[in-house]
Formats: sequence, C-alpha cells, structure tokens
Amino acid sequence: MAEFDRSQLALPTIVSYCRRKGFVFPSSEIYSGYAATYDFGPLGILLKKNIEAAWRYWNVTSRTDMVEIEGAIFMHPKTWEASGHIGGFADLMVEDLVTHKRYRADHMLEEAGVVAAAGGLSVAEIDDLIKVNNLKSPDGNAVSGAKRFNLLVKTHLGPIEDESAVAYLKGESCQNIYLDWKATQEVTRRKLPFGIAQIGKAFRNEITVKQFILRTREFEQMDVQYFCEPKDADKFYEEWKANRIAFYTEFLGLGKENVKFRQHELDERAFYASDAWDVEYCYGALGFKEMEGVHHRGSYDLDQHSKFSGEDLSYRDPEDLKVKFNPYIVECSAGFQRIFLATLFEFYREEELTDSKGEKDVRVVMGFPYELAPYKIAILPLMKKDGMKEKAFELYADLRKQGISADFDEAGSIGKRYRRQDENGTPWCVTIDYDTMENGTVTLRHRDSMEQLGEGGRIKLEDLAKYLSREGFGK
Ligand code: GAP
Repeated sequence: MAEFDRSQLALPTIVSYCRRKGFVFPSSEIYSGYAATYDFGPLGILLKKNIEAAWRYWNVTSRTDMVEIEGAIFMHPKTWEASGHIGGFADLMVEDLVTHKRYRADHMLEEAGVVAAAGGLSVAEIDDLIKVNNLKSPDGNAVSGAKRFNLLVKTHLGPIEDESAVAYLKGESCQNIYLDWKATQEVTRRKLPFGIAQIGKAFRNEITVKQFILRTREFEQMDVQYFCEPKDADKFYEEWKANRIAFYTEFLGLGKENVKFRQHELDERAFYASDAWDVEYCYGALGFKEMEGVHHRGSYDLDQHSKFSGEDLSYRDPEDLKVKFNPYIVECSAGFQRIFLATLFEFYREEELTDSKGEKDVRVVMGFPYELAPYKIAILPLMKKDGMKEKAFELYADLRKQGISADFDEAGSIGKRYRRQDENGTPWCVTIDYDTMENGTVTLRHRDSMEQLGEGGRIKLEDLAKYLSREGFGK
C-alpha cells in the first residue's frame, strides 16, 4: 500500500473534511456565510478543548514558574495608544483606482513573484516595484501608491457614537497581561523570573482573509509572557525558543520535519520586538506558514504603559528594595486556529484498502494521538434488537458520566460505523453483540491497526477501563 503523501494534501480537502465531520462550519452559513468567520462544530470544540488542555499543561500547570489569567476583550482605549497599535499597527495597502477595493501591497508583490518576502520593503520600494513590473489589481486596473491601513477593529461603546465613545477590540491578546502584570506579581508574591499565560481572543481588520482559518479577523492567541531581569533576557529567550519546538514536536506530536524556525529580517519585525522568530508549520501543499511568534520585547510594553498611565509598573527586588526596574519580556504568542489546522494536516491520511473479495476502497483516518482525539471511544450495538441497543446506550451514558468523551452510533452496518469513527479520529470502538448479552465480553477494535484486541478478538467488559484510564491532559 502506497504511503499517504501529506506534502500533497490540499487545503480544500481539509476544508471539506471539517465541514463534513463537524469540526468547523462557515459562520452564518444559512445567510450564505460571512467572510472569514467560522464556528467550531461538535468535533471541533472537543479538539479545541484538548489542544487548549495540552497547551495549558505544557506551559502552565506542569511548570512552577507560570500563572494564568483571562482578561477582558475591551480595554481602556489608551492601552492601544501606549502599545503603539494606533500609530504603528498597519499594513501597506494599494487601492484599485476603478473599483476602490484595497489590497495588501506585500501580498500583491509576492503573488506576482516579484519578491519572495515583501514584509520589510519601504513604501517607496513597493511603489517602485509595482510600477516597474506594471502590476494591476485582480480586476485588471491600475492601483494607487501604497498607504498604511490600521488593523485595529474600532467600535463605539455606550449610547452616543462620538469620538469619546471609541473603543477597540483587542488587536493582540497579550495586552491584558502587561496591564495586569503588577497586580498579578503582587497577589501571587512571585519573584522574577516568572511568566503569565493567557488564552484570549484577538481581532484584526485584515484586508486579505483567505486560506480558511489561517487568517481571519477574529481568532485566538495562546500567549506566554515571561518576565525576567534584563541581564537574563537573552538566556530565557533561547530557552523558550527551544521549548516551543519541543512543545509542538515532542508533546503535541507534530512531525519534526514539519516544524521549523524562521528569524524575522530587521525591517520585518513588529514595532515592539528587538528580535523575532516565527515557528512555522508545513501545511501540506500550502507549504510552511507562521504558527507562533517568539518575540524579544524588552521592557517596551511596561515602559509605555507606565508612561501613558502614570503608574509605577516596576519590579522591586524583595531582597533589596532599592533595586527596581521594569522587567524584560520574552513572548511566545501562538495562533490557536493555526495549531488546530496543523493537527488536522498532520494526522489526516487516506489509506487504500483491499477487501477479502479484492475490491479496493479508500479509508480516511484522522490518526490523532489519544489525548487529542475528540472521542476516545465509540459504543456500537451490533443490532438495535434483543437488548443490545439498551446495553450499549447504558455503557455510553456511564462512560460519559465518568468524564470519558464517548460517542454512540447505531446507524448502518458495523463496517460503515467503523469507517465513520476512523474519520472522526476515535481510537477505540466497542461492539455490543449477542456474546456480550450472554457472557459480558465485547469486541474492542483499534482505529490504526483495525484489529480486535484480546483472546479470540474479545475482552471482558470490565477490562475496558484499562484502555481508557490513561492519565492525560485531554482525558
Ligand atoms: N502579541 C504578539 C502578536 O500578536 P503576532 O505574530 O502578530 O504577534 C501571533 O501574532 C500569532 O497569532 C501568529 O503567529 C499567528 O499564529 C496568529 N495570528 C496572527 N494574525 C492572525 C489572523 N489574522 N488569523 C489567525 N491567526 C493569526
């Protein structure tokens, strides 16, 4: 059987898989959808919780130097002035001179093959390249010179829609952590170094939204902000960089060959970073794309918020109260949706099978590790009659009461039901049949080998627990 070539795995295959199986639905689908907004369906939310549990375990609860907070989406508007987002959080855009639609200048140059990465080009260089290469908008019209376009999503809060009511949705989730840093340090009585983690929403008025959940206007970030003495910042920066690769490859199970680092060019870095590396993942045929940013933020954020709020945000050394300074921050900021998509690309496979009659068939398997699998087990009554359905349902309800994510499926042949669960990524399927009713044994089939465990392919029902009792972050 030929190995599944995941380097050829195309995004549309994953998009249709997600819709078909209920991982991701286009949001507002009954209104023909709403650009680049998505909902997590029943399997998607289970996978989401498991990824969050993995992230939380690795970055917070298994460590002694991390705490977690959850901040509000709305923050004082001054936050965004101080952070630099009102002034500096902007993409260079060109405008179609006929339709007035706007396009990202860097994407236009990259897609036309003029440059491989346009992130660091100046306005003058971009204008020049567009002119020399005679680039047109997708509608074939001439475009304006490049201008900056702010990405913050603006709204009004309160009954009157004037300038005083302007508010912004979080452009990067981490800002709560900087505003709460001092309060967190005081209530936890932590000494440096220590970190604050958060999983939170972020909103960006992205102009180019494409490639499914890779670039959307509403997404989630999983942040570690690690506070340390300035003299230790380079050391922790290197430690966290190594830690990120270990998290993705050793813990989450992404292939080593599919995860790599890329350092930002000097002129490509975000305005707050003195050094920046992207953790990139190879999304099948799409190739390598950014999944997480590791940034050396220095004391930029605390300096700025201290200046704008007038509050002293410095750390005092408990051993020598005369020593006080704004700590340096090492940031690891991952895009949740991009990790979610990475797991789907990593574990999806199609297998060509030949049955006993020589007929060929394709089996779709989502080979999630146990901890990530949305359902750990599916309970299948062989038939709906003679008490098998009731017995199976009782087991299903019992497992769910124990906190084990179980599914129940009574529709169609056993073969079809196995395939359905293989596609869901469910590691185990239990069949309740006539023997179960007689002697309390069941078949327990594993997704990957398709084999049934136990002597003669049967195990005792009471032994089931040992296959499901794994201590895991996503149990
Ligand atoms: N606080 C640092 C920060 O926001 P970033 O590199 O802009 O840094 C961090 O964002 C991560 O958030 C990225 O690596 C990416 O995974 C994710 N991300 C950024 N913009 C996104 C978007 N429009 N849609 C989905 N994920 C996005």
